Amino acid sequence: MNAKLHWWQKTLVYQIYPRSFQDTTGTGMGDLKGITRHLDYLKTLGVGAIWLTPIYPSPMVDNGYDIADYCGIDPSYGTMEDMEELIAEADKRGIKIVMDLVYNHSSDRHPWFLASKKSKTNDKADWYIWRDAKPDGSAPTNWRGIFGGSAWTWCEERGQYYLHTFAEAQPDLNWENPKVRRALYDAANFWLDKGVGGFRIDAIVYIKKPARFEDAPADAADGMASIHDVIASTPGILDFLHEFRREVFDGHDIFTVGEANGVPPKDLPKWVGEDGVFSMLFEFTHTNVEFPNGEVWCRPSPWKLTKLKGALTASQKATAQSGWYPVFFENHDQNRSINRYYPEGTDTVLAAKALATVLLTLRGTPFLYEGEELGFTNTAFPSIEDYDDISSHGQYQLALEEGHSPEEALRYVQKRSRDNARTPMQWTKGKNAGFTTGTPWLPVHGDYADCCVETEAADGSSVLSYYRALVRIREEGELADVLQGGDYEELPALEASEALYTFTRSLGGKKTLTLVNFTNEEAPFDETILSGAKKIFGNYEGREAGILRPAEAALYVWEE
Ligand code: NOJ
Repeated sequence: MNAKLHWWQKTLVYQIYPRSFQDTTGTGMGDLKGITRHLDYLKTLGVGAIWLTPIYPSPMVDNGYDIADYCGIDPSYGTMEDMEELIAEADKRGIKIVMDLVYNHSSDRHPWFLASKKSKTNDKADWYIWRDAKPDGSAPTNWRGIFGGSAWTWCEERGQYYLHTFAEAQPDLNWENPKVRRALYDAANFWLDKGVGGFRIDAIVYIKKPARFEDAPADAADGMASIHDVIASTPGILDFLHEFRREVFDGHDIFTVGEANGVPPKDLPKWVGEDGVFSMLFEFTHTNVEFPNGEVWCRPSPWKLTKLKGALTASQKATAQSGWYPVFFENHDQNRSINRYYPEGTDTVLAAKALATVLLTLRGTPFLYEGEELGFTNTAFPSIEDYDDISSHGQYQLALEEGHSPEEALRYVQKRSRDNARTPMQWTKGKNAGFTTGTPWLPVHGDYADCCVETEAADGSSVLSYYRALVRIREEGELADVLQGGDYEELPALEASEALYTFTRSLGGKKTLTLVNFTNEEAPFDETILSGAKKIFGNYEGREAGILRPAEAALYVWEE
């Protein structure tokens, strides 16, 4: 079975937020040389591919997701030579570099937009999405952008509004125009020629817009409707994407992972695998357990473990026959998973190890986000001004508009802000956790002396050591076959449990059982589920009959 898997199905992918990884020049911002410096660290973690969030020239309104040149390197990260060196050095260690393609929108400083906004007749006039004002001069529709506020911005120079699914500085490209599509494919092929091993494709569900632009029923006090609900996965989108696949991905030994918020698991086979477009698709039902009706941070709803398990099981089932699943709990847009899934007061080291056990034993390619392997937790900044993340400011405003006090609005941001995931990487016990000799662009988390590579690498019981050991079991040991390719089944006896997540993986005669306690209390279970099984790994020594201890995780195996 394993021989049938591609390289990217057997390895661990590590996501780097370059701005926060390692600064080598004292600017307080990470750079490409900083990534090259730590390739050996990643190698010892068992990483086979690194997904870099965007490193292209950008005004950095959305930290690189506003691109001004698809084939360049932002000077704050270094030069094209630094990039080539990174690709080559990574290659020597058997690690592939994966680029982030941000193709729904560009920066408003991209030369294409600068030309497009000049008039209604220039040769880039229809490279973006322009519409006239309503007769009263207001925006063409009442759609709210994902970062808050209207999704339309008036351009005086051209005398029209342009559409932006995200920030004003991120105008949406017009995919209906074949010249736009060609230019985007050419840019992706440029990076393939440089030797990259794959792509993560940003916000891809938004590239196709509906035929008619009309007001939608308001969903909040601001009288607007979320643009996501109006434009995500518009019929016809897959035609564009199949062309993308033919023009760029086909014929290369790479993987692609689309960011596809809102694609239901039942539709996955259309998007991934042989008949689909991408190798894998990030969908977010399991990270959005608190926000089943859209990510409005001031409207969280209580969630139960059965919801989380249901979401994971649905994705596992949907990709069992065709396509493949990217297993992840964290990325640069999420708060830290320990805070999201475990109750306050839980031992964070145990919780981090418990989540690692799920991440590394589910079926699919595990995506690990920088700091997750050390057990990073959220950081609460004292004032809204301290937040860099553009969406935190939009969500703060929305909370105020919904009638929350400034203190409450700040609390929602502290809990959910994307900056929770963007604080600098913690390398050493020294100044600024070894991230920079200058002033870090975001403050370093206060826990860095205990929670850093230097401390954890020297401690056999650390989160880092746990990751290293479990990755080895997954990638090299006798169980590699079953953990990589084996079938997934949630244990029926405990499916309704609100405390325990239990699932088996099986292949040939081999079968493993993952048992994880998602509470901070002892959780009883019927021991007979373990009969004949041997514990081989876990975050506690030994076992206690009939219970899992707080945040306990264990991996069992049945011999053939
Ligand atoms: C999704 C990216 O992950 C996020 O960081 C970004 O803000 C938006 N897309 C817009 O590109």
